[in-house]
Amino acid sequence: MRTLIAGNWKMNGSQAMAVAFAAELRRFMATGRQIRADMLICPPAPYLETAKRLLDGLPVALGAQDCHAKPAGAYTGDISAAMLADLGCQYVIVGHSERRTNHGESNAQVRAKAMAAHAAGLIPIICIGETEAERDSGQALAVTAAQLRESFPENVDGKGAVVAYEPVWAIGSGRVPSLDDVEGVHRHIRNQLLEFVSNGAMVPILYGGSVKPENAADLLGVPEVGGALIGGASLKAADFLAIAASQGAR
Ligand code: PGA
Repeated sequence: MRTLIAGNWKMNGSQAMAVAFAAELRRFMATGRQIRADMLICPPAPYLETAKRLLDGLPVALGAQDCHAKPAGAYTGDISAAMLADLGCQYVIVGHSERRTNHGESNAQVRAKAMAAHAAGLIPIICIGETEAERDSGQALAVTAAQLRESFPENVDGKGAVVAYEPVWAIGSGRVPSLDDVEGVHRHIRNQLLEFVSNGAMVPILYGGSVKPENAADLLGVPEVGGALIGGASLKAADFLAIAASQGAR
């Protein structure tokens, strides 16, 4: 399985930033340096079409940050998975902790979104992760396992979904769990996937939360870490590329 390096711009950026980002990617690729990971960028929805055009010919896939659970209808302001596929997306993030917290998204809603994404031909990236209080009370494994089981789409094979483990307290905080803790949770997630998902061994499990060029090689070297979901550091092409290039560099 190839490592997946995914950038989540969240509600950041502009057309000009997308242009500068793509130009830097193009300059890097023109040097002939090889990146051994698959790369994915998830810009805000209004920039998807611009990004699709800018990424043309570059080895970078396009993804969105959320989708609606229904294929179409009277849902003002929402975006269906089919629309994202229509714009050239291959992936969509669902159940990011910011959506779970700010929009009250439940595991059941996240699962419905993941199933809608799959039905539209997209690969959902299902985010799970414990809060600091849950970790401190020794519940990290139990909480992430429950989220996984309740959020993972039904009847989707392991080749059709990605899981991102993002401890809520590590997102945007500059703090990361120890490598042993990352390994422990990722192994636990893998064991769950093997139990209830057909081809559960094929699901890439990304780590997310304060991934930077400085810690990427260590995190990507942890067993069962199949890539990274990157927020802040994905806004600068140089940092994003440095993280992608650190795959296998340890
Ligand atoms: P961060 O965000 O890299 O800025 O911590 C990660 C995420 O929320 O996906």
